[in-house]
Amino acid sequence: MNDLINSTRENFQTELSHASGEAELEQLRLKYLSRNGAIAKLFENLKTVPPDQKPAIGKLLNMLKSEAQAAFDDRKDALHKSVRSAEAGLDLTLPGRPVPVGTKHPLIQTMDEIKKIFTSMGFSIATGPEIETDYYNFGALNFPPEHPARDMQDTFFISKEILLRTHTSPVQIRTMERQKPPVREIMPGRVYRNEAISARSLVTFHQIEGLYVDRGVTFSDLKGTLVAFARQFYGNDVRFKFRPTFFPFTEPSADMYISCFLCKGTGCRMCKNAGWLEILGSGMVHPHVLKNVGYDTEEYAGFAFGMGIERVASLRYGVDDLRLFYENDVRFLRQF
Ligand code: PHE
Repeated sequence: MNDLINSTRENFQTELSHASGEAELEQLRLKYLSRNGAIAKLFENLKTVPPDQKPAIGKLLNMLKSEAQAAFDDRKDALHKSVRSAEAGLDLTLPGRPVPVGTKHPLIQTMDEIKKIFTSMGFSIATGPEIETDYYNFGALNFPPEHPARDMQDTFFISKEILLRTHTSPVQIRTMERQKPPVREIMPGRVYRNEAISARSLVTFHQIEGLYVDRGVTFSDLKGTLVAFARQFYGNDVRFKFRPTFFPFTEPSADMYISCFLCKGTGCRMCKNAGWLEILGSGMVHPHVLKNVGYDTEEYAGFAFGMGIERVASLRYGVDDLRLFYENDVRFLRQF
């Protein structure tokens, strides 16, 4: 009798697990759970069991009956639910809908990375206003009035004295006015220039400025710092060179070039066959600038540098039209 109970349980369970659909479930119910079903038959057999075993076997049978009924009800319930959701156009077996997650704009990503490298070298971050005075944007930076150097940067003037800053260098002045050396800051921000918009120039773009002023700062410090940056940002194997140039606020001044990381210096479209890419302007802070903020030029010296983020990002990601950074076309932005 014991064996019979066990085998009935096993058969019922396997058949239940294979039953799909209303009709098959009903057949299963008739076969096992109805008044003439297999379990009812087992109860009839109880009569033939010796009286001393009756209580134990009876208990087993009752257990089988309630177990089977509960399993059957569960199964039927689940079936109803899935039928209902299918009718409602729901398929609970489909994977969930992905929630679209945005990413940082490639310019912000580039800026963040540059900031990270310089802050790890001990620079902190300073900012300043985008609407500036002629004094901070030009005068204090040693651009004499009417000097042709002002033409290097076509300016949006709001009035004779007020303008949209053409570079982040005015933040140098504001930072030095605020504190005594040592000054070790980088200054990211948006700048404006009155130029015709094209694939290679925009009316607004971003720069990161750097400034380090202390006792005994030399041109070697400038080179060491910028080479360390370039290696971290562009890769350990880039070669570099500094070429003399002119900025009113630095003397001497140098543009920094790295070997083209695409062609490794042999010449390609990216470097316009030069093998070299200009990545930033730099120089030793001009004594006139230090004087303008009240620093003692006998005691202190410093270096400064500035780079355009759009240029850096376009080189890095091979974007050949700067306007793409401002159109916010998701087909473009998704690639970063
Ligand atoms: N301000 C300069 C420019 O916009 C870049 C620069 C910054 C050069 C600091 C030297 C030192 O072109």
